[in-house]
Amino acid sequence: MIEFSKLEKNILLLLSDEHQRSINEIMQILHAPVEQIRQSIHQLKSQTNSIIETNKDCFKLTTPYFPIDKSHLQETLYPIGFKDIYCFDSIDSTNLFLKQNKQLRTPALCTSNMQTAGRGRHGRNWYSPYASNLYFSIKYTIPTSIANCAGLSLMIGVSLVEAIENLLSINNILLKWPNDLVYNKQKVAGILIEISENLVIIGIGINVNCLSHQNPMITKPWISLREIYQKPIIREPLLLACIECIDNNSKLFFEKGFGVFHEKWQNKDAYKDEQISLIRGNEIIEGQTKGISKNGNLLILNHQGKLQEIESGELS
Ligand code: BTN
Repeated sequence: MIEFSKLEKNILLLLSDEHQRSINEIMQILHAPVEQIRQSIHQLKSQTNSIIETNKDCFKLTTPYFPIDKSHLQETLYPIGFKDIYCFDSIDSTNLFLKQNKQLRTPALCTSNMQTAGRGRHGRNWYSPYASNLYFSIKYTIPTSIANCAGLSLMIGVSLVEAIENLLSINNILLKWPNDLVYNKQKVAGILIEISENLVIIGIGINVNCLSHQNPMITKPWISLREIYQKPIIREPLLLACIECIDNNSKLFFEKGFGVFHEKWQNKDAYKDEQISLIRGNEIIEGQTKGISKNGNLLILNHQGKLQEIESGELS
């Protein structure tokens, strides 16, 4: 894991408005020796892959950069019970960090400006470029039996939609079963839940400020909040809104179960009554979606007129 130096952070802030700055300008503003600045930029360039040299000795960031301040997270999250909070500039995966560090007290939060080995569902990678987006994971101790956790990932999807609606007034973000956030069927955010013993790690990646044309590496249709909102989004308030909403809803979920969120999920169903194909292992199930069951399973009316209840799989 990497935490940038004060000088490196200041350079990033100077480049953060997407306008180019020359080494001379940076030197005058930051009062640092030119060689040190040159070396820091060189290092940042290779670590973040997000700085480009626009002209000789002029640089800019390819993405707007809104820093996340650990002390602000602590101010908001300690009072609501969070115990351990980690903020990195770069890490392999925020989920992996919480998984490997078993000594952490829960609830624990880990967020990073980039991930070098971000993990998605079904063993896929989660593309995590520097500072463009949000990548964070929360670890909870499950206060009830794991058997009562059905629908947990769907509740997280509902929470994220709620937080985005409240903060940014974007109302057309919907849910693709089980828990992707989509806008016009294009993916906005993904959720990776990992449960072991009595611990759950909830990993969330939200496409915030990246632009779809800058990242052709992702083959499935996706979109960022910036593209929907039509201006760059300050990440910290969004991160806090999401965490607070998840935390409130988790308390309710662990006490009362998924039932409380069932209707909310159905109201945001992006594929309601649509003809779909679902991939489950080697099997493809086709039919019409009929919402979800009381414990969050997908209901599909197949071509034989039989209602099937699906626990896992992926809508194509
Ligand atoms: C998906 O495939 O839709 C789930 C993507 C989850 C990505 C997030 S980013 C933060 C956390 N750390 C990871 O390595 N993955 C999750």
